[in-house]
Amino acid sequence: LYLIHWPLPKRDNYVEAWQALIEAQRRGLVRSIGVSNFEKEHLDKIISATGVTPAVNQNEIHPYWPQESLVSTNQEYGIVTEAWSPLGRGSSELTEPLILKLAEKYDKNAGQIILRWHIQRGILPVAKATTPQHQRRNLDIFDFTLTETEVSQ
Ligand SMILES: NC(=O)c1ccc[n+]([C@@H]2O[C@H](COP(=O)([O-])OP(=O)(O)OC[C@H]3O[C@@H](n4cnc5c(N)ncnc54)[C@H](OP(=O)(O)O)[C@@H]3O)[C@@H](O)[C@H]2O)c1
Repeated sequence: LYLIHWPLPKRDNYVEAWQALIEAQRRGLVRSIGVSNFEKEHLDKIISATGVTPAVNQNEIHPYWPQESLVSTNQEYGIVTEAWSPLGRGSSELTEPLILKLAEKYDKNAGQIILRWHIQRGILPVAKATTPQHQRRNLDIFDFTLTETEVSQ
């Protein structure tokens, strides 16, 4: 999977960059192509110019910044939303009282609650973890389900 890191709108050559990725895929150099940090207007522009929709849009998403409208846009286009900094870079979201309450309820830790919240919103979280215990726990999120109310809270 090969992504454009961000559109850099000031330079306004992301359509050309997208065409280069399409060509790389056509030549078999990469299997899948996508973008990152693209807003709706950038997606509209590359898709209408080339007719090719990115497989993935990787965006900053975490509980303090749920990006509802962008996630809907991705869904409408059939683009997989990936979340970067899905845990808010180890920020205070990991000690947010509501998240700690849910962690206690489901016998999980705060990181697992947040990652589960992404999955239930149809988002693929790209969590970074260097601590082996975090790595193991971040994969162990498929044996419980948050209620719809908890996801929206
Ligand atoms: N496309 C873009 O523009 C863009 C921008 C920024 C980042 N990214 C990508 O997104 C990925 C993740 O972003 P990120 O590293 O900024 O933020 P993140 O994944 O939200 O947070 C990483 C931090 O959370 C800690 N952590 C991981 N699992 C935890 C758990 N279960 N409980 C408590 N703490 C936990 C990690 O600690 P330990 O390391 O000690 O485990 C690390 O300090 C990166 O690999 C990066 O490449 C992309």
